[in-house]
Amino acid sequence: MKHHQSTVGKNDEWITPREIVEVLGKFDLDPCAPIQRPWDTATRHLTIQDDGLSHEWIGRVWLNPPFNRYERGKWMRRMAEHGNGIMLIPAACETKPFQRWVFPVCSGLLMLNHRPHFHYVSGERARANSGCTICLVAYGEENFRTLERCGLGTPLVVPNAANQARSDNERIDWMEDYPHEAIKALADEARAFASGHMLREQIDELMDTPTAKVDAPSGATAE
Ligand SMILES: C[S@@+](CC[C@H](N)C(=O)[O-])C[C@H]1O[C@@H](n2cnc3c(N)ncnc32)[C@H](O)[C@@H]1O
Repeated sequence: MKHHQSTVGKNDEWITPREIVEVLGKFDLDPCAPIQRPWDTATRHLTIQDDGLSHEWIGRVWLNPPFNRYERGKWMRRMAEHGNGIMLIPAACETKPFQRWVFPVCSGLLMLNHRPHFHYVSGERARANSGCTICLVAYGEENFRTLERCGLGTPLVVPNAANQARSDNERIDWMEDYPHEAIKALADEARAFASGHMLREQIDELMDTPTAKVDAPSGATAE
């Protein structure tokens, strides 16, 4: 939308329509909320006066980060590190922050089936719509289940390490049920490897930090 696009970088006070936040369930924290807000988006809100990035994030997070594209990457990274919540951002999948902090670590995302009209802090709905595709990004499996159920658009699974670990877990479920102790033990090892080692390593690589050494089960390789 013309009006909305022209304000990017000038004004961050674009409030999420409450019908979007409400169908996504209760959030514990909105780390970037307006000082004057027309409705709650979470149980706890941090504003620019608190500087949401300098606080600890606890629980399920709702994140609609500042629109300024130079700021947005920091918030996206923090959300990826936190790993529990839903983030609303433009579906700019060609951009670096999207490729670093969304695709490799999210549990899935959803393309909204419409261009939302954001609101002013007064609660008034903007006349123009977002002007671009908006998506919701889930971190953590339960949050993707929420996106699958919410009816706001098309949920998409992303083939990344996190989801690979999840599907590995599903595949090895049968092993745990198998009535033989050796196979059950193998399932335990495989699960620890899939959900712990691979995912941790992938995230550490993105964060440019060394990976904590975890013993892989015999026969398995990390790369
Ligand atoms: C796009 S709006 C989203 C508002 C709200 N989270 C929502 O979903 O309706 C981004 C908000 O981030 C706030 N903000 C900007 N920088 C911030 C900071 N360093 N700490 C906390 N909030 C900040 C702005 O004041 C603005 O209200």
